[in-house]
Amino acid sequence: MVPELEKASVRMKSPERVRRVIAALRRDGADKLQVISDFDMTLSRFGFNGRRCPTSHNILDNSRLISEEGRKKLKDLLHYYYPIEIDPNRTVEEKRPLMIEWWTRAHNLLLQQKILKSDIAEIVRESEVMLRDRATMFFDKLYHHHIPLFIFSAGLGDILEEVLRQAKVLHSNITVVSNYMDFDDKGVLRQFKEPLIHTYNKNNTVLENMEHCQRLSGRPNILLLGDSLGDLSMADGVANVENVLTIGFLNDRVDERRGKYLDAYDIVLEKDETLDVVIGILCYVLRET
Ligand code: C5P
Ligand code: MG
Repeated sequence: MVPELEKASVRMKSPERVRRVIAALRRDGADKLQVISDFDMTLSRFGFNGRRCPTSHNILDNSRLISEEGRKKLKDLLHYYYPIEIDPNRTVEEKRPLMIEWWTRAHNLLLQQKILKSDIAEIVRESEVMLRDRATMFFDKLYHHHIPLFIFSAGLGDILEEVLRQAKVLHSNITVVSNYMDFDDKGVLRQFKEPLIHTYNKNNTVLENMEHCQRLSGRPNILLLGDSLGDLSMADGVANVENVLTIGFLNDRVDERRGKYLDAYDIVLEKDETLDVVIGILCYVLRET
């Protein structure tokens, strides 16, 4: 069906279930499909040439807009909280308050920095952010088939939109829900808009009354892409779901986390910096092969 599923990076607990869901997605076609995806380390690359690529937060944190002292404090927060975020031995209940603490402390540091809206495009251009290989094909294919793409991100919405804009893939089929900045009338960052979205509240609690849920209710089939176990709740707000195929990028601490990822995601992609498998599935579902 999908030759890309033979790639060495692919792991599946139940290939039979994967086959069944992909067949259902193909049977129902593009009109019934929607894609729900995380952004950082899912659509963007985790690493390149042995170096880590930045998240949307890191693009800002590491930029010339932040004082040296601010950069150091933000890095210290990352080094303290990121291992907690991905720790396979802590429960989500344990992690949730600590994630709120991380995001709140980081956002408060950013608020002290007089960040200008007009600087965002340039710091994105100067950063080392990269989308996964074949991202352009992924975005263009969804756009051309009128398949809605809902990007649900605990990163920074203003930054990730600019990444997509510069890659020329911010098409009109995309809806983003993320943490957005609020600028004053001089264009200076003054606060972050509510609600705060972190790794472990990506669900309908932050999506209430969002018109996109209604717009998408005629599309009962979902392709869900994520890199964190917290991403699996991103489709919880969608009504009348029929078939969901979940694909998880396992980027970091692969051996320790493999078991949990295999239990949670239909398809696990280990250290795979491409969108090959996603594109392979889309081609099959859209009858392009
Ligand atoms: O788009 P996504 O939901 O993946 O964005 C959240 C990611 O950003 C988290 O996985 C976290 O590791 C990272 N993060 C960061 N700096 C922060 C807060 C979160 O790099 N201050
Ligand atoms: Mg992510």
